[in-house]
This record gives sequence, C-alpha cells and structure tokens, in this order.
Amino acid sequence: MNYINNRFLLQKRPTGMPEDNCWVMDSQKITELQKQEILIKAEYLSIDPYMRGKMNDSISYTPPLKIGEVMVGESVGRVIESKSKNYAVGDLVTVHQGWQTYIKTKDSDPSVLKVPESKLNSSVFLGTLGMPGRTAFFGLNYVGKPQPGETLVVSAASGAVGSVVGQLAKLIGCKVIGIAGGPDKSKYVTQELKFDECIDYKNENVVEKLEKCCPNGIDIYFENVGGEITKMVSKFLNKNARVPICGFISKYNSTNIAGEETPFHVLGALSPKPKHRFFVVTEWLNQFEKATSTLHEHVKNGDIKFRETITTGFENAPQGLRDVLSGKNFGKQIIKII
Ligand SMILES: NC(=O)c1ccc[n+]([C@@H]2O[C@H](COP(=O)([O-])OP(=O)(O)OC[C@H]3O[C@@H](n4cnc5c(N)ncnc54)[C@H](OP(=O)(O)O)[C@@H]3O)[C@@H](O)[C@H]2O)c1
Repeated sequence: MNYINNRFLLQKRPTGMPEDNCWVMDSQKITELQKQEILIKAEYLSIDPYMRGKMNDSISYTPPLKIGEVMVGESVGRVIESKSKNYAVGDLVTVHQGWQTYIKTKDSDPSVLKVPESKLNSSVFLGTLGMPGRTAFFGLNYVGKPQPGETLVVSAASGAVGSVVGQLAKLIGCKVIGIAGGPDKSKYVTQELKFDECIDYKNENVVEKLEKCCPNGIDIYFENVGGEITKMVSKFLNKNARVPICGFISKYNSTNIAGEETPFHVLGALSPKPKHRFFVVTEWLNQFEKATSTLHEHVKNGDIKFRETITTGFENAPQGLRDVLSGKNFGKQIIKII
C-alpha cells in the first residue's frame, strides 16, 4: 500500500479571521488495513461556517478541537480498499473525519454514510444533498413550520442552506424574500432560484425594502447571519412568527463571542416574542435518509437548483474557510482534492 495522507492539523487558535498559521499540514503513509477497516480517497472537502467555532477554545455546537487535532470537516470520496463485508471498493461515501486526503477508518464509523450513485457530481452530497440541504429541510419544516400563503424571509439566501430553504418554501406556497450580499447574488436568488424578491443588504436600504416586500409582515424568518440584519427583520415579525435560528455567521470571527449580542438576545427582547430556537441538523439524525431522498427528487425534477464554488487544491482549504466567513463564496464552498 503506497498512499500518503495529507492532513491539516490545528496549530493555533485564531483571533478574528483564521490565518494560515492556524494550521500545519502533515503527511503520513497509510499503513495496511486491519479486519473491518476501509480506506477512502477523498474527492471533495466541504467548507462550512461551523468550522470557525470549532477552532475556538469554547463550546459551540460541540466541544472545541484540541491543538494538534485534525481540522474538522466532511468529505465525499470512494472506498479504494476494503477489509469489510459492508463496503465494496468503488462505493461512494461521505465521511466526517476532517481535512484529510485519505481516510482509513472502521466500517462501524458512524460518520460514514453511503450515498447513492447519481448523474450529479459527487460534491452535491456535501451541499444541497448533504448536511446543508438537510439543515434547510429540518429547520424549515420542523422549526419554521411553513403554511401556504405565509411570508418567509431568509438571510444568506444564495448560500448552501439559504438557497434550499427559500426553494422549499416556494414549493410549499410561501412568499419568499431573500437577503444576500451584492447584486450578483441578489439577481441569482430571484432569477435562478425564483424567490419573489431579494434584498441586497450591502447596497439597498433593508428596512425600506422589507416594508415594500412584506406588506403583511413576516411569518417566518430563517436566521443564518445575526447582527444588524436580525434587528431590521425583527421589526416586521408577525404575532405568531417563527424564527428557526440556524446560525449567526456575522459574529463567528468575534474575539469575544461569549459577549456578543446573539439572535436570542434580540428576539428574546421583543414583545410579543416570536417562537425562536436554535436548532442543529443532528437533532434529526434518524431522518437523514428521508430528507436526502426528498431533496434528491427535487433536484432531479429541477425544482431545486444549486450553485457551488469549487476551489481546486487541498492546500486551499484555509482560504476556502476565509472566503465563506467573508462572503466570497457564491453557493456551497467546496475544495476539490486532486
Ligand atoms: N444549525 C445547523 O445545524 C447548521 C448547519 C449548517 C449551517 N448552519 C449555519 O447556516 C448558516 C449558513 O451556512 P451555509 O453553510 O449555508 O453557508 P453559506 O451561506 O453558503 O456561506 C456563508 C454566507 O454567509 C454570508 N455572510 C458571511 N459573513 C457575513 C456577515 N458578516 N454578515 C452577513 N452575512 C455574512 C455570506 O453571504 P452574503 O454574501 O450573502 O452575505 C456567505 O456567503 C451559517 O450561519 C451556519 O453556521 C447551521
């Protein structure tokens, strides 16, 4: 066996935007597989906002990464060697074992999921048909509980989660308003994703445009960003409004995240309070397959469209994370491993 695994290890906790010196790359020869082990060659690595929180020395969704540990992340790839009855060479899988080019793991590893063969590029299983798509599906349906005719606003609307939220809500019969940064993203949200409206928060007056777009108020605000946008949207929330709090990316680089004003503070201070709660996609682990297959059908039928920013080269993963945290990504940020 002659495979060399390249990995990014956390070397230093960031202050603000994570610079290159937060990681160190190391290379290791893959040793012989033992019984019930498989070897996966990663094709694409997913870059996601939560990764920033895992680099801090504080609990975010889950405990922090330790210095020297492999940087957290999910990839999609093929099984290239197998000593397991459960996996054959050639199986396409997603695996949550961090920023690595080869992953040797046990066949009982719960982070490995087989994904169906599809005409789509395998990277889609990290985006619309992966964790972000499922996040949109569960957060919208189980926390937002949309009804036909309701008005939904979603922030980071062109992104991996937001794009799916808005399209699913349109399929249910909601009026959907996106909020996105810049004219290109805004145009994409209305012209390609077919949201009713999109507000370019970097160039337009958000409050004025919300007034125009939401004459009957807002029934659901799907929260992805926090900060000033939450405050502006909250002025328009109806009495029985629901706010699934998916994330608040505008604060993730804060040097004092514990002291930041979060959507909880803003929404909790309203009277009446909207129904709001933070949710995590893993609350519905037992429904992952169902959500993925529903989303797959929508993508095959052309009801859900998606866009990816694919950056080539494993060594560019740190820049990919900086791009997500500064809005340079357009759609799901992926690293192609060559
Ligand atoms: N709860 C869960 O289980 C779960 C799972 C997945 C993701 N999430 C959360 O969902 C949100 C979206 O994640 P994603 O993977 O779909 O990422 P994404 O939307 O594909 O990319 C992040 C986007 O956030 C926006 N952004 C970045 N910095 C911002 C700032 N300072 N102010 C306002 N917007 C900013 C940018 O869009 P613009 O250019 O439009 O500003 C950027 O493109 C994040 O908050 C993430 O943490 C939560």
